[in-house]
Amino acid sequence: MMIKFVDPQVGEEEKKAVNAVIDSKYLAEGPVAREFEKMYIDYTGAKYAIVTSNGTTALHLAIEASGIKPGDEVITTPFTFIASSNSILFNGAIPIFADIDPETYNLDPEKVKEKITKKTKAIMPVHIFGNPCDMKALKEIADEHDLILLEDACQAHGAKVDGKHAGTLGDVGCFSFYASKNLTFGEGGLILTDNEELKDNVMCLRNHGRTPKGGYHHIRIGYNYRSNNLVAAVGVEQLKKLPKMLETRKRNAEILQKELADLDGFALQKVLKGHEHAWYIAAGRTDRKDLPATKIVEELKAKGIGSRQIYSIPSYKQPAYTEINEYYYWAKFVKFPDYSKVNCPITERIGRDHFQIPINPGVTEENMYHIVDTLRKIFG
Ligand SMILES: Cc1ncc(COP(=O)(O)O)c(C=O)c1O
Repeated sequence: MMIKFVDPQVGEEEKKAVNAVIDSKYLAEGPVAREFEKMYIDYTGAKYAIVTSNGTTALHLAIEASGIKPGDEVITTPFTFIASSNSILFNGAIPIFADIDPETYNLDPEKVKEKITKKTKAIMPVHIFGNPCDMKALKEIADEHDLILLEDACQAHGAKVDGKHAGTLGDVGCFSFYASKNLTFGEGGLILTDNEELKDNVMCLRNHGRTPKGGYHHIRIGYNYRSNNLVAAVGVEQLKKLPKMLETRKRNAEILQKELADLDGFALQKVLKGHEHAWYIAAGRTDRKDLPATKIVEELKAKGIGSRQIYSIPSYKQPAYTEINEYYYWAKFVKFPDYSKVNCPITERIGRDHFQIPINPGVTEENMYHIVDTLRKIFG
């Protein structure tokens, strides 16, 4: 039996809730989605919450609704899922990659400063693996240069900085409810903001440019990025369980932190003071040249422990980026950088040296001690 690194905690409650939606015949987005949004507002303390079809569409909407235009530069991290920077490209804006901190794996504020130009319009921090970024430093930079601060909190449900939820620390925050996430709809997303104008723009763009009146009156070219009651019903039940699921993730992560603190050549992500990691992913790191992460992954799997490397290819090294000026629609109008020349050595090092360790709520304490023993033997 393999200890899984993804194991959605769905069961009877979700089945009942989905069946109730089917019985109601109100399958499209409606009261259940509104209930979820209200619950997420209560949970995070944000003023507005808007569900979307997934995290990528949440990011796309947040970018467009913030007024980011073709040719504008958005500084972000290359150590993330490709959707983060893709969402910048959808509107012809330009992702500018800054390197990460070698301990937190999040955007390094000093490196962000070096990338600011006259064309910079926004900073998009990504709370990678659920570990909150240094938002205080990033907010100072954003305020000083009058930049939009757009959080990709797709992996960070429940993460906090000084008690305040990730996703509420900038101008707008985006979440994913993909099947692997701390809270799942199967597929889903959500935008948080305190800005009424931004919220109105999002609502309009997400529903084919309609006004709140609905119907067949369209004031802008928009999209269908709506959610639906079926998946929102799963989300409602998941949100009820979220505090408990986060507690188990934290317990599991703390076992690794405590039991492996003295293991030579091994490290976990550093969590800054006052920050609460949401432990979407526990990423181990090898600092030993004789013990590559690829080998550790194989050895863990051989002992029944699901593991993998995740962002071993930085976004700027993906062919989609190195060849962007050849094929992408927006490249007819916007000059993108030659991404093959981007150099973020810390991203490349962490990409090479990290590996995933299962900590999801389906992983028991007993499993965790098996993982600890196995890692001790591998590093031994
Ligand atoms: C950091 C990050 N950004 C964006 C996304 C996109 O979310 P989705 O898969 O729901 O479109 C994800 C999801 O995997 C993610 O992890």
